[in-house]
Amino acid sequence: MAQIHWKPDKQSLVPMHKQIFDFIKDKIALGDWSIGNRLPTQMEMANAFDVNRSTVLEAYEALKAEGLIESKKSAGTIIVNNTWSVLASKAPPNWEKYIESGYQKPNLNVIKIINELNLDSKMIRLGAGELAPEMSPVQYMKSIYDHLLMDVNYMGYEEEKGLLQLRVEVCKYLKPMGIDVNPNKVLIVSGVLQALHLISMGILRRGATLLTEQATYIQSLTLFESHGINFTGVAMDGEGLIVADLLRKASVKKPELLYTIPSFQNPTGVLMSVKRRKAILSLCEKERLPIIEDDTYRELWLDEEPPAPIKAGDKNETVLYMGSISKSLSAGMRVGWIVGSERVINRLADIKMQTDYGSSSISQWMCYEFLAKGYYQSFIKSLRHELKIKRDFTLKILDQYFSDIATWQKPAGGFYIWLTLNKNIQMYRLFESCYRQGVVINPGNIYDVSSNKNIRISFSYASLQDLEQGLMILARMIKLNLSNR
Ligand SMILES: Cc1ncc(COP(=O)(O)O)c(C=O)c1O
Repeated sequence: MAQIHWKPDKQSLVPMHKQIFDFIKDKIALGDWSIGNRLPTQMEMANAFDVNRSTVLEAYEALKAEGLIESKKSAGTIIVNNTWSVLASKAPPNWEKYIESGYQKPNLNVIKIINELNLDSKMIRLGAGELAPEMSPVQYMKSIYDHLLMDVNYMGYEEEKGLLQLRVEVCKYLKPMGIDVNPNKVLIVSGVLQALHLISMGILRRGATLLTEQATYIQSLTLFESHGINFTGVAMDGEGLIVADLLRKASVKKPELLYTIPSFQNPTGVLMSVKRRKAILSLCEKERLPIIEDDTYRELWLDEEPPAPIKAGDKNETVLYMGSISKSLSAGMRVGWIVGSERVINRLADIKMQTDYGSSSISQWMCYEFLAKGYYQSFIKSLRHELKIKRDFTLKILDQYFSDIATWQKPAGGFYIWLTLNKNIQMYRLFESCYRQGVVINPGNIYDVSSNKNIRISFSYASLQDLEQGLMILARMIKLNLSNR
């Protein structure tokens, strides 16, 4: 090994052992020093570099840890490796530590498993909250898309609150429902889920309490929990939230908001009556308790049009109203809206801008076309017809196989039937035994942690044949699990 003329820089911020480590590693990488070469002893190196022996020892230990050199009693310290992968390799950062310290909690484990199982096309999806692929408006989409390619020649960042043309159409769409607002009070979001995120970030303090229906969609999300926000469930009956319980919880819990899904609630399917809507608005106005009204399922009425939204009677800007095309047109376009007090909408728009600089232009333009050209309404008409067939078929199958083990109500719209078993069951065990038989269910305790009796059946995704087969298997698994307790 030729004489060494290099010396570590004592003024450098890089520790001297690290400089020596890098120097030797470079020599090996460049091929100046090759496998089998003996390195000078630690003493010789210390003299050559004009450093303490302990500094050289530290550098040698690090080179050994990377597998580049080895100390052999008889032969001294030998270079044993010069492969590129070893020279390039560094211990990766401890990502686990970083992941654990992120504030957003991971998804519920059952939901992760459901999402994974849903990727397997052989599985019968009895819980899926989305339209079946064959029900999606493909023909409309194709012609809108072609038309957009010809007509829209710029897709840059949109306005803070979203594409103005779309917001104008959303206002026109809401007016017949009794919601009369201007586009400044509308924020386009990437689905209602994003609106909920913005609310949790923008207008709720840590430690706040949210009142919700006893079983609710947002219990299945960890986003509020991640922001330190708690839920308190309010009892329901066939007409929606029970006002007396709402009043009691509002006085005891001092909540910050009420979150409700009045039309075809997820997961119970319940449709809130007109009387209840009025009573709840009046109570919340008196208590100065803001309402988040999630009307995601509104368009999916199967028997008759639902009552006007709570927002329609709101004269004091008590209600933040949310709508989405996810369940009635396309979940993947990721378009929804939130409507309310301009100050709140400005605040949420500002946070959205900081988050993603606006929702996808192409999705907003497509949604605009659906609304402006009347395609949305004509598509939904045929969708309702198909969904009604599926709902009635599912109810028939339930009568056939479940009447001795569960009860349920006929939903007047939406996707869901909330089964209540006659006896408590080990939910996770049932979930597992079903998916082993090729059927994915959504256990009720995702939506109400205290429930050991409920299963959310969705009739929107599976075909009629799969609905029948899946439900037969589910009934069999329930009976088996109950008898093996
Ligand atoms: C009540 C309710 N709100 C919101 C969402 C999410 O909607 P989006 O796809 O618009 O984010 C769902 C989806 O299941 C839902 O059930």
